[in-house]
Amino acid sequence: MGLKKIKLLSGEFIPEIGYGTYLEKGVDCYNGVLEALKAGYRHIDTAAFYGNEEEVGKAIRDSNVPREEIFVTTKVWNTDRDYEKAKKSLEESLERLGLDYVDLLLIHWPANEKQFPGKSNEINLDTWKAFIELYKEGKAKSIGVSNFYLHHLKNLINNSEITPMVDQIELHPGYMHEELLEFLKSHQIICEAWSPLGRGNLLTNQTVINLANKYNKTPAQILIKFILQIGAIPLVKSKNKLRIKENLDINDFEISSEDLDILKRIDTGISYKNPDFIDF
Ligand SMILES: NC(=O)c1ccc[n+]([C@@H]2O[C@H](COP(=O)([O-])OP(=O)(O)OC[C@H]3O[C@@H](n4cnc5c(N)ncnc54)[C@H](OP(=O)(O)O)[C@@H]3O)[C@@H](O)[C@H]2O)c1
Repeated sequence: MGLKKIKLLSGEFIPEIGYGTYLEKGVDCYNGVLEALKAGYRHIDTAAFYGNEEEVGKAIRDSNVPREEIFVTTKVWNTDRDYEKAKKSLEESLERLGLDYVDLLLIHWPANEKQFPGKSNEINLDTWKAFIELYKEGKAKSIGVSNFYLHHLKNLINNSEITPMVDQIELHPGYMHEELLEFLKSHQIICEAWSPLGRGNLLTNQTVINLANKYNKTPAQILIKFILQIGAIPLVKSKNKLRIKENLDINDFEISSEDLDILKRIDTGISYKNPDFIDF
């Protein structure tokens, strides 16, 4: 099964679905990545913060899938923002992954004014300067951000030579970011959706179940297809072999625009983290 690929501003291509690894460690993480590669995923999402880069790297090597066929993302954690720390963070991630480059490097969360009054824009720009160097050195084939809202992005775009190529945000039915999505599209910044299943919570939502029955698919497949149809890249996590496969089996149906609108408006009951108010 070949996954479609989307062109990034760097000219590199990113597979349209990613395999998430958050909260998976040790043998579960290793087996999950191995199963995902066996099932056809070619895009793995990890982060320094996840504490699983060694397992991810080992699974990639043991899979026997050629390195250049796999798109690997990692992220710089909040304690490693700023120029020197960000560069060192990628070196350490590469060491743990056993790779000499990553396909995508992301700033995990923006610095915010709550934690760094009067300084957050400067901190984010300093981190971004390091990212630009790492990109030019070829250690990160593409660079981007995560959990950045409009004003965080505008700070980088207006004050540096390179536009982030990706913004990875929490995105799923009932949690839309219409204005941000429009902005990303108009700047050719690709949106990645984290927690496309609403961290698992949306799988039991009655509207999602009703649509799953209507289309003869599972709730997870409806949620993944929703993200693809609104033009973003779902990063979906499962440690279960059958569910890993199920989550890729989404090519034989289309959700109607009326049903997409219904999904956009559902009430999720989830409480969300606003990047401007996080304190970690
Ligand atoms: N940038 C960020 O700040 C950020 C934050 C959070 C997440 N992420 C990324 O996004 C990825 C996905 O997010 P997530 O892990 O929070 O949540 P998710 O993918 O929305 O949901 C994962 C949950 O759904 C279950 N699941 C998966 N497929 C299923 C299926 N077909 N049927 C039933 N249950 C299913 C999983 O359980 P099983 O494993 O038991 O199947 C797990 O409990 C992460 O792994 C990470 O790579 C990024």
